[in-house]
Amino acid sequence: GQNASLGCHVEVGTNLSLTQSSWERLLPTGMITVAVFNPQFGISVAKEYRSRVRFLNPSVEDASILLEGVGFADIGPYTCKVVTFPLGNTQASTTLDVMDLAQKKHSSTTIEPKVYVSAGSVLVDGDQDVVVATCTAERALPPAWVSWETELSGRLKEFTQEEPNGTGTTTQVGYVWSPHRDARGHALICVVRHPKPGVFNLVMTLLAPDVLVEGQDEVWYVGQENAKLDCRADANPVPHAFFWTRLDVQMPEGVVIANGSLRFTRPLRKNNSGTYRCDVQNAVGLRSQEVDIWIRGELTFLSTLMNHPAAGSLRVSE
Ligand SMILES: *[C@@H]1O[C@H](CO)[C@@H](O)[C@H](O)[C@H]1NC(C)=O
Ligand SMILES: *[C@@H]1O[C@H](CO)[C@@H](O)[C@H](O)[C@H]1NC(C)=O
Ligand SMILES: *[C@@H]1O[C@H](CO)[C@@H](O)[C@H](O)[C@H]1NC(C)=O
Repeated sequence: GQNASLGCHVEVGTNLSLTQSSWERLLPTGMITVAVFNPQFGISVAKEYRSRVRFLNPSVEDASILLEGVGFADIGPYTCKVVTFPLGNTQASTTLDVMDLAQKKHSSTTIEPKVYVSAGSVLVDGDQDVVVATCTAERALPPAWVSWETELSGRLKEFTQEEPNGTGTTTQVGYVWSPHRDARGHALICVVRHPKPGVFNLVMTLLAPDVLVEGQDEVWYVGQENAKLDCRADANPVPHAFFWTRLDVQMPEGVVIANGSLRFTRPLRKNNSGTYRCDVQNAVGLRSQEVDIWIRGELTFLSTLMNHPAAGSLRVSE
C-alpha cells in the first residue's frame, strides 16, 4: 500500500550524451519494460503501470521512478538501463521487497509471551465479588491483548507491568464474579492476541466442589483406634475450605479436623454413631456430603468376623 521510489542517478560526462533511460523488470515470463525516458521523444509508461508509475524528476541525470501503492505482485528485481552515445549501454539493478505492514512494525522486536491461566483468589467470607480465574500473558513485546470470553456476567480486572530491560510487558486479566451455584460447568475462555503466536485460547471450566467422603464404608466398632473420615472434592478453582459437622447432636470431643479429614484421637464409642456432614467451598460454591456412621459393639464385630472370616481377615490385616 505504500509508495516505493526506485532511484537511478546518471553521471553524464562531457562528450557523452544520454540517448534513453528506462526501467525494466524481470518476471518469470521474461523481461518487461516498465517506463522509458527519452530526452527527445519524452516519457512512456507501460500500459499496466500507467496509473501508478511516474518519473520523479525526469531528466538526463535522474531516472528515478515512483511506484505507487505497492503489492506483493511488485516484489522482484528491477533494472535501470541507460543508453549513451558513444559509450553504449550501462545498467544497475535493485530488488523491491514488500511486506505486511503489521509484520514490519513488529518484525525485529517481537517477544512471544508465556500464556497461562490460574484459578483465582480465595473467597473471603462475606465477599461477594471474587477473582475466580486469572489469565496471564507474561513478557510480551508488544504488549499482548488479553480478555475473558464467557456467558457469565462478571467483569474484568486488568493489571499490566513493564518488565525490566525491555523484556516485554506482563498483562494479567482477572475474571471477577459473584459466586453462584448455576456456574457449575460454565467455561471461561481466556483469549490472548499477539503477533506471536497469533490468537491463543485457553479454556477454564468452573466447577463447584463434587464431594466424596472416604472411610464411611469401613466397619467401625467400639474401641477402634485412629478412625477417620476423609473428605475429598473435585473442584475448580481448588477448594479453600472444608468443614465437618455432626447433624444429630454436637460434634463429640476427641475429634481433630484438619485437611478435610475428621479423625478420632481416642477409641471409638458406641455413641459416636450418627450423621456427619462434610461441606466444601470454593469460589464457585458450597457443596456437601452427609454420611451415616454406625459403630458396632465389640461383640457384634466379633460375630461378624466369625460369620464372614474372609471379610474379617481383610479387616484385621488393616
Ligand atoms: C503515493 O503517491 C501519491 C502520488 O504522489 C500520493 O497521492 C499518495 O498520497 C502517496 N501515498 C503514500 C502512502 O505515500
Ligand atoms: C571530448 O572530445 C574532444 C573532441 O572530440 C576531445 O578533444 C576531448 O579530449 C574529449 N574530452 C574528454 C573528456 O574525453
Ligand atoms: C537488567 O540490566 C541490568 C544492567 O544492564 C542488569 O544488572 C540486570 O541484571 C538486568 N536484569 C534482568 C532482569 O535481566
